[in-house]
Amino acid sequence: MTICEPTLLNLIDDSVLGALHGRSMLLTDQWRREEIETLCSVAAMLEGLDRRGKVPPLLRGELHYGLFFDNSTRTKSSWAGASVRLGATPMVVDGSSTQVAHGETAEETGAMLGMNAHALGIRHDLILGEGNRFMRGVKEGIESYLRERGDDRVVPIVNLQCDIDHPTQTLADLCWLRERFPDGLAGKTIAVSWAYSPSYAKPLSVPQGLITLLTRFGMNVRLAHPRGYELMPQCTDSAAAHAAESGGSFAIMNDMTEAFADADVVYPKSWGPFDLMLERRHEPQRMQAIEAAALARNLEHKQWICDEGLMSRTRGGNALYMHCLPADVGAEVSAKVMERARFSVAREANKKLYVIMALLAVAKVRRLRQALENA
Ligand code: CP
Repeated sequence: MTICEPTLLNLIDDSVLGALHGRSMLLTDQWRREEIETLCSVAAMLEGLDRRGKVPPLLRGELHYGLFFDNSTRTKSSWAGASVRLGATPMVVDGSSTQVAHGETAEETGAMLGMNAHALGIRHDLILGEGNRFMRGVKEGIESYLRERGDDRVVPIVNLQCDIDHPTQTLADLCWLRERFPDGLAGKTIAVSWAYSPSYAKPLSVPQGLITLLTRFGMNVRLAHPRGYELMPQCTDSAAAHAAESGGSFAIMNDMTEAFADADVVYPKSWGPFDLMLERRHEPQRMQAIEAAALARNLEHKQWICDEGLMSRTRGGNALYMHCLPADVGAEVSAKVMERARFSVAREANKKLYVIMALLAVAKVRRLRQALENA
């Protein structure tokens, strides 16, 4: 064991672990703060064990099915890597190749996948109002099938990015922040800012997930975007409520420079204009035209780039730069800023592997604390 593993084990509370058995992760907002903290401790524990090649095959013989209705590099490979490290077999499928494309419902799909698989990861992030609803339907389909069969297996669902949240990303970000700021996050200021992108209209789920999660830990969260790039009201409302409860703060501004002033952490990334992202749902036959309109709108805000000048305004000119990747270098962030942060953002990305391992382990392994203790 490394020096910090016994400490991590002490942070893993059996009663909290008990409440997580069988639990899906659809939105971080549905988990209590101590459950999230326990998850982060399990992820850190698993990371330490993995570095030493000592992860026990806790889920041997299982099938972990990953269903992706959108592109992915990091999350797809993290799902597969997490599953293999736990002794299971991952299978990753393009959602458009399933019968969902022919009208099979979320509930039917859930029942069919749940009868075979032991855990299910889903990415469905393109249409506001659809992704998380699909995941809830799949969960209902799995659970009602298992209930009717009298089958006591648990088949947790892991949200691998939806229209509302990107929990494995934001939890990975939280783990990275906890590592970088071991004295705690309370009182630290993070700027979650829109940034220009010419490549595609990106989902709203990362900034929404960040503001709803990080306000729970006493951080001062500044959300900055041009007018027209608002986030879902349920997420900004939730962030404001969490900040009031945790002793942090939540502010929305339309100025990137103001958001960066004396910030400890900056997270500049692009997302699509709110009205056009909503139009995707109401007029799906116009996807290409909507995408072109979104990129034209983005172009009006080319000056929203994280460059050396903006970074110099942060605390000590040296804020932690974060990005979920892939970043549009030369648009969202200057080449120099990205070059300096290249290793740091790779380490941030690597945390997702351990977050997914932790989500699978806490949902599926009874007596997890003892299993980790004996590893
Ligand atoms: N950040 C992130 O979710 O990356 P992928 O889209 O490559 O999975």
